[in-house]
Amino acid sequence: MLDLSWLSGIVSPYSLALFLHVAAASILLGGSVFAPFVRRALIAATTVGELRVWLGFARETSRANPAVSLVVLASGLFMGVEGGWWTDGWFMVAASAWLANALVAVLVIQRAAMVVGSAAARCRDNQVSDEVDRLRRSARWTLAADFLQANDLAMVYLMFNKPSALASGALLVTAWSILAGARYAQRAWIGRDVGPGSLTPVPGR
Ligand code: HEM
Repeated sequence: MLDLSWLSGIVSPYSLALFLHVAAASILLGGSVFAPFVRRALIAATTVGELRVWLGFARETSRANPAVSLVVLASGLFMGVEGGWWTDGWFMVAASAWLANALVAVLVIQRAAMVVGSAAARCRDNQVSDEVDRLRRSARWTLAADFLQANDLAMVYLMFNKPSALASGALLVTAWSILAGARYAQRAWIGRDVGPGSLTPVPGR
């Protein structure tokens, strides 16, 4: 009789869930780390056509995010129950951070991008209007993207180290503070009002 017991180590439901979880989480993490570069290109766009290209790029590259987030959550919950983690502090903090990220992504980031898209549709002669320029530099959008990125990065540390609820909360607050500090330093250094800004400051803005 063929002995297939060695297979159980790599194809157990838990190991498959862990694979799906890490693969899906990497997609989310990659997206949130890459987002500021897309936003910077959006802000640097000099014509409405160029702006639309970057808005489309942002839309296409985040289209699967809701489904990918659900894979992260479902696999995380499954492993939480299977592995007995679900009553641990880090697990509850992770689940709360997941919910916060989902809400911020939909209510702030997606909405901000849609508002820029509709304002861009009202522009004439391919010129970026003052209204579009103000909207694309939204401070709320910037802060929301920073929040997502901080949570995603902190989550990786959480998952590998599984600290207590208090330490997990402190880790998230530290991650937010580091990103907020970096944003403040960038603003002071580049001298922009809001947003990641382009590398070349625009005089008078
Ligand atoms: C973007 C968010 C997330 C990222 C980047 C992430 C990342 C990871 C990584 C890298 C691991 C492997 C850790 C290891 O094997 O030691 C892992 C495991 C795990 N994650 Fe997440 N995760 C995220 C969200 C969540 C959420 C929301 C939950 C709970 C609802 C969760 C629950 C778990 C559980 C239970 C494990 C298994 C721990 C183990 O077997 O050691 N994760 N996660």
